[in-house]
Amino acid sequence: LPGAQVIVVSNREPYIHNLKDDGDVELVVPASGLVSALEPITRACAGTWIAYGGGSADRQTVDQNDRMEVPPDRPSYTLRRVWLSEEEQQGYYLGFANEGLWPLCHIAFTRPIFRASDWKAYEAVNRKFADTVVAEARNERPIVLVQDYHFALLPRMIRERLPEAIVITFWHIPWPNSEVFSICPWREQILDGLLGSSIIGFHTQFHCNNFTESVDRFLESRIEREDAAISYGGQTSLVHAYPISIEWPPTQLENLPSVVECRDHIRARFGLDEDVKLCVGVERLDYTKGILDRFEALEELFTHHPEWIGRVVVLQIAAPSRGTLPAYQQLYEDCLQRAEDLNQRFGSEGYKPVLMVAEHHTQEQVYEIYRAADVCLVTSLHDGMNLVAKEFVAARDDEQGVLLLSTFAGAARELLEALIVNPYDATMMSDMLLQAITMSPDEQRRRMASLRDIVRDNNVYRWAGSMLLDAARLRKRGAIDRA
Ligand code: G6P
Repeated sequence: LPGAQVIVVSNREPYIHNLKDDGDVELVVPASGLVSALEPITRACAGTWIAYGGGSADRQTVDQNDRMEVPPDRPSYTLRRVWLSEEEQQGYYLGFANEGLWPLCHIAFTRPIFRASDWKAYEAVNRKFADTVVAEARNERPIVLVQDYHFALLPRMIRERLPEAIVITFWHIPWPNSEVFSICPWREQILDGLLGSSIIGFHTQFHCNNFTESVDRFLESRIEREDAAISYGGQTSLVHAYPISIEWPPTQLENLPSVVECRDHIRARFGLDEDVKLCVGVERLDYTKGILDRFEALEELFTHHPEWIGRVVVLQIAAPSRGTLPAYQQLYEDCLQRAEDLNQRFGSEGYKPVLMVAEHHTQEQVYEIYRAADVCLVTSLHDGMNLVAKEFVAARDDEQGVLLLSTFAGAARELLEALIVNPYDATMMSDMLLQAITMSPDEQRRRMASLRDIVRDNNVYRWAGSMLLDAARLRKRGAIDRA
């Protein structure tokens, strides 16, 4: 696709500018798997990234066209910010996207909430982003990379106004089976919107199948299973699995010291004795991540293997997320309470088995923690992919450390040498935790070396490359059809 303009659209922006109390402007890279995956790709394409400007100093850092060149220290692409009112954020982002679609697609036993007023805001904000895509397109044929469940209606809206564009939509979260999906009162509209895409991508074939089955059930369409294509309303969309990944080698490692130094620094920061096994969890504070479930596994371990009391610490880094929603506030309270209970029960002078740090960390700080960990706990109840698992592997160039990984994360289909767990089974999780903390350095090396090969080979450039290659084939086929 030589010379084609690449436009990325996501709700979350890659760089947020916030005004601090002392009047200075602070730059924040948000905790978002989507952002960490798309950032290197957009840099490589020198594209335009359109996203909601959510930072308190975002308006003062853009030019009169709401644009700025990023990354701020080595500009290589354009960030175009879109402004949303309080009501728009409430209805479209917090409401429809995060109280409706998020729990619906994760099947995390949190009841999805669908309000007609949220749906209206969702439609209106999708239209606003469509206007911005059209405004940013330099010709009739850009390649637009639409990201995630915030924008199910956007592909159709773009298709109507830029019929020659290639629209690649990537759904970063799971897609449920058609029965669960049918809960959504606007299921037909969501499917119709997505089928405005040239290509619709999911992390796994399983989610592609669920999507195709939902279309089959709710829309008049023709499904060609062999070609993984859906024809609907005179247009064809490909539905493919593209497992997302991370940059290799990750730029975050560039400025970090050796594993030994990271380990010393983190152990000193949290006051850990030399013989304590450090198990870390790193994520947004979200009810899909299984944070309480890993605390339960720790309790189980201490109950059945009391010799480990005093010698294991779970460090939980939880970046605050969507904090105005009741489900997230409740989770925060529950996590604090549970950590406190465990610390009361199993802790002693100078020893707390659970360290709950509910603060945003920079990418470098997160990688430093990965390098210091004996075990990384990824116990999501359900996750599209989960990039923490891959980041941990990428951080361990010493080939040490054990990854405990939920079977319900997309990553479990690739990272077979991890210790795979069912997060709903506390007994199994505690057995695996015991296996992790007692694993020999040789076995750690064997497993980690194999995991590193997989992440190195299937890095994020391959993810983007295979989607763009499919897009190039489509464009070529279109040209032949027209001739
Ligand atoms: C998940 C979603 C992303 C989102 C991220 C952070 O990874 O798939 O779209 O950006 O969570 O959530 P937030 O609501 O803070 O953007």
